[in-house]
Amino acid sequence: MDKFLLIYTILGAVFFFVFFLWLTSNRKYKSSFSVASAYDNWTNDRLLENLWGEHVHLGFYGHPPLRKDFRLAKADLVHELVRWSGLVDLPEGSLLLDVGCGIGGSSRILANDYGFNVLGISISPMQIKRASQLSLKGANCKFEVMDALNLQLSDNSFDVVWSVEAGPHMPDKQLYADELLRVLKPGGVLIVADWNRRDSVNGEMNFLERIVMKQLLDQWSHPEFSSIEQFQVCLSTSRFNKGLVEVDDWTLATLPSWKQSVFEGFRRPKAILSLGTNAFFKAIREIPTIMLMHWAFSSGLMRFGVFRIKR
Ligand SMILES: C[S@@+](CC[C@H](N)C(=O)[O-])C[C@H]1O[C@@H](n2cnc3c(N)ncnc32)[C@H](O)[C@@H]1O
Repeated sequence: MDKFLLIYTILGAVFFFVFFLWLTSNRKYKSSFSVASAYDNWTNDRLLENLWGEHVHLGFYGHPPLRKDFRLAKADLVHELVRWSGLVDLPEGSLLLDVGCGIGGSSRILANDYGFNVLGISISPMQIKRASQLSLKGANCKFEVMDALNLQLSDNSFDVVWSVEAGPHMPDKQLYADELLRVLKPGGVLIVADWNRRDSVNGEMNFLERIVMKQLLDQWSHPEFSSIEQFQVCLSTSRFNKGLVEVDDWTLATLPSWKQSVFEGFRRPKAILSLGTNAFFKAIREIPTIMLMHWAFSSGLMRFGVFRIKR
């Protein structure tokens, strides 16, 4: 057989295998348990951590976007959110709740660089275990397994409530907004950053967008995305509302993250290959969803919304 034909056949077979895997073995949202189990798996296999580092969120590349190290951009998102929400003005030791804290990347920056006393919560026990391992003794960070929709915390107990990219996993956006605001002290600061869909007043989804949207939801255990406008209403009309809700759109500043997260695998192949063949297929399997996310955020179907209530 011609050498090139053989190579194309092998590449084609790998492509169809991965595509089949992608279409059939998705991580469709069923309940908060399916979200917990998806993050437990993503934490246990260390693939995400090896590739993305301590932050399970997009990076900030600036307006207009600049070339930047992939991991530095992720840490910069935290610093930009701190700046945008005026958190720098708060006294050292202020209590901060990080809702949907991942493995604690943001929590540690908020404790170590800004002096907050942080409680990070996540639905995934494995993330909480890993977050605790990564946090040095003496750091003002502790972590607990808790459901964001049923916070086991008193009303008005935190100076700051922070939540980054957890909202898409919440089936009830109003309850999510209510819980964030319930535990926030009057005069406290709320900061939320999330993936949002285009609001229907700006155009209903066409056939292609509906197909893409279904994959964006089902592949990563998302019950639904809110629009920026809808979530702003959830916050403003909440019975626990604590002030003026301001929003901004950081889609452009975060957009390079998607392509960069694929390039990162090529830049540092050892991060994947050191984990074995299984990790290689797992990594390849995420590429279609990442590229669909890139398409959705660059075409206006998805937007990166930031929300704040400032003192
Ligand atoms: C995309 S990750 C973001 C992680 C983290 N904020 C970061 O920036 O690295 C989404 C996080 O939300 C958490 N999460 C999802 N549903 C949750 C729920 N119902 N209660 C608490 N955490 C939840 C996940 O476990 C995960 O830690």
